[in-house]
Amino acid sequence: MLLEVRDLHVEFHTRDGVAKAVNGVSYQVDAGETLAILGESGCGKSVTAQAVMGILDMPPGRITGGEVLFQGRDLLKLKEEERRRVRGAGMAMIFQDALSSLNPVIPVGDQLGEMFVVHRGMSWKEARARAVELMDRVRIPAARERVRQYPHQFSGGMRQRIMIAMAIALEPALIIADEPTTALDVTVQAQVMDLLAELQREYRMGLVLITHDLGVVADVADRIAVMYAGRIVESAPVYDIYKAPAHPYTRGLLDSIPRLDQKGQELYAIRGLPPNLTRIPPGCAFHPRCPLARGLCRADEPPLFEVSATRGSACHFWRECLDG
Ligand SMILES: Nc1ncnc2c1ncn2[C@@H]1O[C@H](COP(=O)(O)OP(=O)(O)OP(=O)(O)O)[C@@H](O)[C@H]1O
Ligand code: SF4
Ligand SMILES: [Mg+2]
Repeated sequence: MLLEVRDLHVEFHTRDGVAKAVNGVSYQVDAGETLAILGESGCGKSVTAQAVMGILDMPPGRITGGEVLFQGRDLLKLKEEERRRVRGAGMAMIFQDALSSLNPVIPVGDQLGEMFVVHRGMSWKEARARAVELMDRVRIPAARERVRQYPHQFSGGMRQRIMIAMAIALEPALIIADEPTTALDVTVQAQVMDLLAELQREYRMGLVLITHDLGVVADVADRIAVMYAGRIVESAPVYDIYKAPAHPYTRGLLDSIPRLDQKGQELYAIRGLPPNLTRIPPGCAFHPRCPLARGLCRADEPPLFEVSATRGSACHFWRECLDG
């Protein structure tokens, strides 16, 4: 297994109290596999990714439990220097906002090239040639000329392609993409997502794709993990989820996707808001918003029940939910 996150816990100490941002998250990603992580804003998707990548702000964040096994080694147990080496060679991350991740005063070709100089010991001449190749690879037109341009001279979609180029430059085994297309126009979103999926297949990388848009994952993901209040509440192959969700929260997310054949109809929205993570409701955290909630839900926190060999749901009444 390429990446295995086991029972990860992350807290933030805030003036409001302790925010329990990640509460026992476990997931696995194999080489060549895409796992989509889905959930509304503030449910702990990015914090989980930051803990895996080793870029969590500590403090205020604190990893209070769990393991992050990358190619079999627990990154949380390694010394900082060794951890950086393992991650640097094996993992890369793509963020939502390319403009703030790129240096505004350095030509993009030099930012790409620097990776080859620093990590592969190439000369600048070789490194610039590799930068042009990479820009070609992510289909930036006229790469040979544009390699000397600055980030602000590229459109949002082209900048995100540069971020993808940087992520694949050192041929990592794993990429974590945190809302990689959210800031882009809808048509550009699809192109960038297709490119990412194509490269992922070609290089047989593991891909963790964080998004709050269920619409984009259908074509690219193998599995989906749905997060709510710092926990994974449903985990299943994409096909199973679209066929019939086994958790009322997943059903709510599915029902809120705009559909072309229902133009003009009012869009469904899950009632209420996700909880403040300093005050997670007792029992099932989703119960204040759940149409199926009853007494047991307020009293007992549901574990991740085994729905099938490849599927789990943290709902006491998952059978009822599956039956629609
Ligand atoms: N720097 C921080 N200080 C304090 N609390 C934080 C900090 N970063 C995250 N949190 C807490 O962790 C929770 C989860 O944040 P996270 O960024 O993982 O959400 P997310 O699922 O990625 O949401 P979004 O879809 O908006 O990106 C937040 O709601 C907040 O309570
Ligand atoms: S356990 Fe109860 S409240 Fe939670 S999702 Fe299932 S039915 Fe709803
Ligand atoms: Mg986020």
